[in-house]
Amino acid sequence: MFIELTPEYMLGIEAIDEQHLKICEWINTLHDHSQKDLNPNKITETLNNLAEYTQKHFSYEEKIMFKYKLPGLAEHIKQHREFFIILEAMMDEYLMLEEEEAKPFTNRLLNFLQEWLLDHIMKEDMKIRDVMTD
Ligand SMILES: [Fe+2]
Ligand SMILES: [Fe+2]
Repeated sequence: MFIELTPEYMLGIEAIDEQHLKICEWINTLHDHSQKDLNPNKITETLNNLAEYTQKHFSYEEKIMFKYKLPGLAEHIKQHREFFIILEAMMDEYLMLEEEEAKPFTNRLLNFLQEWLLDHIMKEDMKIRDVMTD
């Protein structure tokens, strides 16, 4: 397993925790494909699924934050948007790669996804928990 959410990454808000676990599953699927045959169709398909699911997750969080008027909403939304700008740029880049560039590229992409997600959960998503479980 490439990325694993240990208990300290759980918000204790079931719907959000499940969504984070699902995002990790997509990242792990991407990792599996990158370790095996680097099949471009499988990688593109996984990236599309990951992007689509993550988009839904961000919308879910933003709706909750809006509903409960949580502080820091603007900064949190900004981070979600920035993630997508980077992910989409990397997905475009992937389509232009030569075959031998695919492996280092997917490694770079996986590291970005892992670092971003873990850091974002700890620093931003945890603020939702702090307010909701007060
Ligand atoms: Fe999140
Ligand atoms: Fe978030």
